[in-house]
Amino acid sequence: KSAPINIVIQKLFMNKKVAVFRKERFNAAHRLHNPNLSDMENQMLFGKCNSPNFHGHNYDLTVKVTGYVEPKTGYVIDTKILSNLIDENILEKFDHRNLNLDLVEFKDLNPTAENIAIIIYNILREKINSSLELKIILNETEKNYVEYPA
Ligand code: NI
Repeated sequence: KSAPINIVIQKLFMNKKVAVFRKERFNAAHRLHNPNLSDMENQMLFGKCNSPNFHGHNYDLTVKVTGYVEPKTGYVIDTKILSNLIDENILEKFDHRNLNLDLVEFKDLNPTAENIAIIIYNILREKINSSLELKIILNETEKNYVEYPA
């Protein structure tokens, strides 16, 4: 006698991890600057990104959530819920802002893509079930992007 179909299906999907991705975009201004360094050192380190009057980027944000498929829904995470989480906690906060001036997180932290990714991760990590893995991929330009955790 063969196993009931639902048991077969459950076995098929058990322990299968799937990654779910949600892509968003925000634009923001920043200036890369380390107040502990001289103007010349800042200029050498950060080049155009050190220009005192700020400049903008269109940031492409990819949020990756990895986990087991829930038998009940067939989802790892409901993308509508994930989309709302990113909207309310990240886009509301980052979009059309001056990162240096408007976000308390960057008061004493250089708003590099690396640091922005870490801040976004920390915010979302608290909102997403700890059984799910989280990764942030942030494109600052078409050619430059970072991933956290690495
Ligand atoms: Ni820049």
